[in-house]
Amino acid sequence: MDLGIAGKVALVTASSQGLGRKIAHGLAAEGVNLVLFSRSAEKLNAVAREIEQQHKVRVIAVPGDMCVAADVDRLVDTLKREFGGPDIFILNTGRPPNPMRALLDETDEARWNDGYQVQLWAAIQVSGKVVPLMLDRGWGRIIAITSASVKQPMQKHGISTIFRAGVTAYMKHLANEIGSTGVTVNCLCPGSINTVHRGSADRTPEENAARLKILPLGRLGAQEELTGVVSFFASVHSGFITGASLQVDGGMVASLY
Ligand SMILES: NC(=O)c1ccc[n+]([C@@H]2O[C@H](COP(=O)([O-])OP(=O)(O)OC[C@H]3O[C@@H](n4cnc5c(N)ncnc54)[C@H](OP(=O)(O)O)[C@@H]3O)[C@@H](O)[C@H]2O)c1
Repeated sequence: MDLGIAGKVALVTASSQGLGRKIAHGLAAEGVNLVLFSRSAEKLNAVAREIEQQHKVRVIAVPGDMCVAADVDRLVDTLKREFGGPDIFILNTGRPPNPMRALLDETDEARWNDGYQVQLWAAIQVSGKVVPLMLDRGWGRIIAITSASVKQPMQKHGISTIFRAGVTAYMKHLANEIGSTGVTVNCLCPGSINTVHRGSADRTPEENAARLKILPLGRLGAQEELTGVVSFFASVHSGFITGASLQVDGGMVASLY
C-alpha cells in the first residue's frame, strides 16, 4: 500500500535510540524527510547519517533537550528555515525515572519533578512551539507515543501513567481545537514492546513469566510492530481518525474499549 507521504517532512523527537530511532527509519523507508531531536549530539548525528545512507532522504539532526526552552526554539528555527515546518510530528519522549516503584514508595520529590518534566512538560513545551508551524499547511499528522498503562494501569507504573494521562488529555484537546486545519492528532500506546529496556534480558524469569501471562499474544512485541502502526497513522489513509488513543500491546488492555 502506498502511504502517500513520500517527500513530506517529519519531526521525530527523542530519536537518538530505541523506538524514536526505529520510527524515524520506518518513515524514511516511505520517502519522508526527517528532523531528529534528542540531547546526545553524537548519537543523533550517527542515526541521521545511517538513515540518510539507507533510505536516501534528507535528515537534519538538531541536538537539544525537550525540557529546555532555548533548545526547542532552536529546533523551531531549523524547521522554519529548512522546511517551513513539519507535515508529520512524532512526539516521542524519554523514559520515566528508574527503577519504577509502587506509588506509596514514590516519595522523592525530585523523581516526581523529573517524571513531570520528561514526560509531560517536554510534550507540552515542544507541541506548543512546533504545532503552530503546522496549521497553515492544510494537512498534518501529530502522533504522540504514550503508554498502554493510560488504559490499564500496570504495577509500579504510577509515575508514568499519571503524566502520560496528562499527555493523552492534552492531545485530545488539541485534536478538538485544530481539527478544522486538516491536522489530525492521535496517541499510540505501546505496551511490552521489546526494546533494550523492555527486553526479557533485564527481568528475572519470574517477572518475565508474569509479564507474558497478561499478554493474550503470549510474547513481547517487535519494535517494527509499533513503527508500522506509526507509519500508518502518519499516512494519507488515516485521515478520518483524530482524538484517538490506540494501544499496541499484544492485547494486554482487558477492557472492551
Ligand atoms: N517499550 C515499551 O513497551 C513502552 C511502553 C510504554 C511506553 N514506552 C515509552 O516509549 C518511549 C520510548 O521508549 P524507548 O525504549 O525507545 O526509550 P529509550 O531507548 O530510553 O530512548 C529514549 C529516547 O529519548 C531521548 N530523550 C530522553 N530525554 C530527552 C529529553 N529531555 N529531550 C530530548 N530527548 C530525550 C533519548 O535520547 P538522548 O539521551 O540523546 O536525549 C532517547 O533517544 C519512552 O517514553 C517509553 O517510556 C515504551
